[in-house]
Amino acid sequence: MIKTRITEAFGIKYPILSAPMGPFYTTELTVATSEAGGLGVLSHATLRGKNSIEDFKAQLEYVVEHTDKPFGFNVRTARVQTDHKILLRKIPDWCKKNPKLQEQLVYGLTSAGGPRKAAAMWQKKAPDMYHFHVGPALWLVDKIVESGCDGVVATGTEGGGHQSYEKVSTLVLTQQVAKKYPDTMLVSCGGYASPEGVAAGLAMGADAIAMGTRFIASNQSEFHPNYKALIPPATARDTVLTTGGFGPIRLLKNKYALEHGKVISKEEKIAQEMAYNMDEYLEDLYRYEIVYTKGDVDDGAIPVGQTCGLIDEILDVDDIISTFTKKAEEKLKNLCSNIS
Ligand SMILES: Cc1cc2nc3c(=O)[nH]c(=O)nc-3n(C[C@H](O)[C@H](O)[C@H](O)COP(=O)(O)O)c2cc1C
Repeated sequence: MIKTRITEAFGIKYPILSAPMGPFYTTELTVATSEAGGLGVLSHATLRGKNSIEDFKAQLEYVVEHTDKPFGFNVRTARVQTDHKILLRKIPDWCKKNPKLQEQLVYGLTSAGGPRKAAAMWQKKAPDMYHFHVGPALWLVDKIVESGCDGVVATGTEGGGHQSYEKVSTLVLTQQVAKKYPDTMLVSCGGYASPEGVAAGLAMGADAIAMGTRFIASNQSEFHPNYKALIPPATARDTVLTTGGFGPIRLLKNKYALEHGKVISKEEKIAQEMAYNMDEYLEDLYRYEIVYTKGDVDDGAIPVGQTCGLIDEILDVDDIISTFTKKAEEKLKNLCSNIS
């Protein structure tokens, strides 16, 4: 058994987290991941066309009805994610009223915007919940640590979904963060989809690793079968960085991604956001919705990481978590036994 600061603090068996994957739903995936002994993380999902605040609450309640294990959630604090301020405030209130939520919701992950508001609010309203923020480059990790977060999710450019403009690899970033902030809990994310990856992440100083694409291609995730089916045959060269709602985004190369154009500069993106109107926002969301509801994998947006080049079959979540960790342990033991 591998014990880390995160397995101990969160009360989980294996040092593996499911990465959040909004706007898609990962409610079933969260239950399956936590049941398997990892930490399932609910996404900031917005595709059901309902009130997103009530919908989030319903998902939290669903999870505690289906598992007694610890779990977490993501809130995207981006400017254009307009429901985030209400969620930051309401989630601790819901916990106070529901003892199961209070006990099981151990991890709140913010991303895509700043960590400060959440850090200040949760330190007061949810002092027992661990607050982590996604950091894609060391200078941004400096800000996360300054803001008082309990931990960092160091996410490199090979990962699926939204990316920063920084383009730093997980390999470099994880080592930088582990070296500069040895006392801060660290999740390494982006590029993990194998036991060898788990072993490498832990060896670099991570307390856990998080995987997104590997879990999409699982029997328990609620992604459309057409989406899942694209992952095993895809190679590591089949993704492309283009412009998404919050900046650069890594998508599978399909008709939509190739027509969508290149990554625009940060300045252009900010100008675009300022001029953003509801029609554009809805058009953007529609691209995810048609994948989610109809499995339209030509005209829809398909976020995946370069890890699709490592994945060649759909697996059970239970298998991914327990087998990967056990094999990672063997790899690390073998390595140690070679040291004279
Ligand atoms: C479909 C999809 C949606 C994503 N949505 C989010 C999100 O809402 N919030 C977030 O912090 N990261 C999001 N990400 C990034 C993941 O949390 C994680 O960094 C990424 O999946 C890691 O790379 P991997 O897919 O190769 O494991 C998304 C990734 C994918 C593949």
